[in-house]
Order: sequence, then C-alpha cells, then structure tokens
Amino acid sequence: MSDHEAAWRRLRAAGAAAAARPITGLFEAEPDRLERLSLEAAGLYIDLSKQPWSAKDLTLALDLARAADVEAARERLFSGEMVNPSEGRAALHVALRAPRGSSFAAQGEPVSREVEATREAMADFAREVRRGARAGATGKPFTAVVHIGIGGSDLGPRLVWEALRSTQPAIDLRFAANVDPAEIALALAGLDPAQTLVVVVSKTFTTQETMANAAIARAWLRDALGSGADSHLVAVSAAPDVAQAFGVRADQIFGFRDWVGGRYSVWSAVGLSCAIALGPDVFEALLAGGAAMDDHFRLAPLEANAPVLLALAHIFNRNAMDRPVRAVVPYAQRLRLLPNFLQQLEMESNGKRVRADGRPVSQATAATVFGDAGANVQHAFFQLMHQGSDVIPADILAVARSADGHPESQTKLLANALAQAEALMVGRSQAEVGRSLERDGLTADQIAVLAPQKTFPGNRPTSFLLMDALTPEALGALIALYEHKTFVEGVLWGINSFDQWGVELGKTLAGRILEDLEGEAPKAHDPSTAALIARLRGRG
Ligand code: F6P
Repeated sequence: MSDHEAAWRRLRAAGAAAAARPITGLFEAEPDRLERLSLEAAGLYIDLSKQPWSAKDLTLALDLARAADVEAARERLFSGEMVNPSEGRAALHVALRAPRGSSFAAQGEPVSREVEATREAMADFAREVRRGARAGATGKPFTAVVHIGIGGSDLGPRLVWEALRSTQPAIDLRFAANVDPAEIALALAGLDPAQTLVVVVSKTFTTQETMANAAIARAWLRDALGSGADSHLVAVSAAPDVAQAFGVRADQIFGFRDWVGGRYSVWSAVGLSCAIALGPDVFEALLAGGAAMDDHFRLAPLEANAPVLLALAHIFNRNAMDRPVRAVVPYAQRLRLLPNFLQQLEMESNGKRVRADGRPVSQATAATVFGDAGANVQHAFFQLMHQGSDVIPADILAVARSADGHPESQTKLLANALAQAEALMVGRSQAEVGRSLERDGLTADQIAVLAPQKTFPGNRPTSFLLMDALTPEALGALIALYEHKTFVEGVLWGINSFDQWGVELGKTLAGRILEDLEGEAPKAHDPSTAALIARLRGRG
C-alpha cells in the first residue's frame, strides 16, 4: 500500500471515531484548540474549531496532504506547469492578479507583460467610459453596461458586482446569461441603446447561450443606431478572431489566454464590466486581495495555510465522515451569489470520478454545494440543517462592519450568524428540553411526545469565515481562498481540477435536439425524449 493510500485509510478510521464524539468535548480536551484552529490570512479570520476533527485527526489530515505532495503541486501551479493535462494547459489565474513587475510563465512562455498590458487597456477603457470620453454613437455618455456571458463568464463578475456595487451606481450594470429569452429581455428593458454598452464575454465565443443573447443585443443596438452600433459592442474572449467575425471591432476586443479557466477568469478581462461599473481602482483592489491570498497560500506552511486547512476540513467531512453535501451561508446579502459561484468553482472543478491519469478516484469527490444568504436561510432550509436526518457541514461567512448603514440591523445579522453556528454544534439535549417542558407544566406523557421533536442533536460542523468589511481586497482574498481550496482538494483526490468534460455531452445532444425541434425529421432518441420532442415541435 502506498503512503498516500495508507494516509487515506488512517483518516477514514479517524472519521469513524469522530462521528461518535461531541465537538464540544474537544474544546475541553484540547485547551489550545481555538488557537490552533483559527487563523488569519490576507485579512480574513477563519475559525475551523467547530469542525469534528481532533488535534490528532488534523495531524492525520496533514499527513495526507504531505503524502499527496500538495506543496509540489502548489509549486507546479504557480510555476505555470501543465496542471491541466487533458487540455495540455497551465492554469495561471494567479498571474492575472500578481503585482506589476511579476514574471509568470505558462509552460515556459512569459505572460506577465501581456497580462499587465491588458490590465492597463481595461483600466484606460473603463476610465474613458466613466468620464464620458468614450461615448456612444450619438455622442451621449454610456450609462448602462449589459454583460452577456454564462458560467465562468458570468458568475464571478455577477458576484463581484453585487458585493461591491453602490446603491446609486453611475453605471447601471446588468447581466444576461441564460438563453431563456426572459433574461435578455429583462436585461435590456428600459435601457436606451444610445447610452448602452454591450460587453459579450466568452472564452470560446461559441457558447450557444451567449451567442444567442449577443445576437439579440446586437440587433437591438443596430435597430436603434444602425452602423453606429459598432461602438457599443465590446467582446472579451480568448478567441478574438471569432469575436471579430461576429462583428466586434478589433479595437474593442479584450483578450485572455487559454490558460485562464472560465471559472477562474474573473481576474482577467472577463472582469471588464466590473472595472467599468465599479471603477478600475476597485477592480485593481480586488486583484490585490487575490494576490495577498496567493502569497499566503504559496508561502504559509501547510499547518497554518488557510486554503489547505479549509480543504482538509472539507475532506474530513466528505471522505472520513461520508458527508456528501455542504452548505455555504453568507450572512451578507451582498454575498448572496457566493454559493452559485462556488457551485461552478467546486462542482465543475472537482465533480469527477476519474483521476488525471485515467484511473478511477479511490474516494468520493466534490460535495454538492448549496446555500443562500443568512438570515433568510433560517426561514427556509435551516430546519433540516438542525434536525434533519443528514449532517450537512456548513461554511458560515460574516462581515463585521456593513457599509450600508443601519448598524443595529447589522448587529442583529451578526448575532444570527454566531447563534446558528453555535446551535448547530451545541444542540439542545432531550433531557434539557424535558426539564424545560416540565417547568412549563407539561405532563410526563406530553413531554415524552414533544421532547424528541424539540431536541437538537447538535454536533453539526461549521467553518466560520469573518471579514472586517466587504472591501474589494477582502472579496478578492475570499475568492482566491476558495480557488486554492478547490485546487488542494483536487490534488488530494488526484483530479485535474481545470477541465470540464462532463459538460460536453449535453451540449452535443442539445444541438441535435434543436434541429429536431426546428423541423427536421427527428433523429432517433430514447422513447421519453422522443415523446417530449413530438410534443414540443413547432411550439418554440
Ligand atoms: O459550462 C461549461 C463552460 O465551458 C464553463 O466551463 C464556462 O465557464 C462556460 O461554459 C462558458 O464558456 P465560454 O466562456 O467559452 O462562453
């Protein structure tokens, strides 16, 4: 048995013991627990002490990280080696947010100068739009940007905008991702084409949903502005020639390289709409926050390394304790989209059952991620979190100071965040519930029926992430933290976290079925699909 396999075996055995042990007891048994399991990284405070692992379990988890040679993998990532072998690419998103003067190389090819030139071009463009120096075809300044893209070309920018936007923005930034006509209709509704910039974002510039929405937006601009529409159309793509063929002027195309994965791309020109609507300085601060987390990830020893420890806490739940679902609950309305963003980041990166070398993964891999903003979730799915039959570990996030006024509301929000994490771990025993019902005057028979229903088993783990304020730097650090966590998990499982072959089959079939729906003689399908096609033909 290899060291790696032996490390997995020891970790799984530790998980069995952890299931039978209250987390609260670990605070008594390990007086230094909080100190050992809480850390600060790039301005974020992370508390992993409410996780089920003991000090010894953490040692075993770190042994696993060493056996998988996380440190060497981390070096390969930062060195621009081919960490995405199925597509023959590096994954060098860290180069996009590195300080000026860095010298990253993708598989030996220097990239930092080009990255900096694009950053400067983006900042110049954003400044000109904001100042009105770059105006629309009729000479009026741009007051709205419609960002069209999907998946990695949508989720990051949308998250950043919602997190950092002003309540009275000078630029009205809207998004359209879905090919459902409702989304582009709502995005364009009420906008004046003469004052609207359409930014089409697609790494490949072939994605069906994006191209459909881009064509609708282009027609909307052309109907109003004729040939003047050209100056209202911007593209962000790793395939600039395809963007040009679509009708975007060469000087309005911002590029990035194929070593930028879609779900890791918010730092690239994919963030252009945010740079315009939030201002280039805000965008630069976001990058600086990401770079600060990169420094931490690259330099901190494994036992004090935030992405590594967050990954190991997840692995302990997922693999040692067989917990297939994880909740992400930001107690910050502005971070409401974080769970959506993490769904793509984690599930598209690590939702795989085959290793990078083609062999099956020996462990269960990425958990199903779901979540929404606290405190809303307390009135939705938290019943199940507290009393359901499955234990669902959660990441709970909070922001100490809100920039949105009403500090008394913010304090209430924080109280709820802390209370939920405490309640999930501590629970409320049946004996305690029984005593309370007795004091309320219930009979023994009534208590026997009611007490089990009011009991909270507790022992439900959380990782608590706290930022002082939702600054661009803190948001950048948070996104980079999760990117690196995802990478470390992929290394432990032996997965290539940077490809996504699992999205291909559905795309191919959608192309075939589209032809069937549009009138061609339907091709062979399974009976269920054939019946649905028959019902829908001609009804689009
Ligand atoms: O969902 C599949 C996917 O390829 C994602 O990986 C990507 O982020 C998204 O589609 C959009 O791709 P593109 O930027 O090429 O339009």
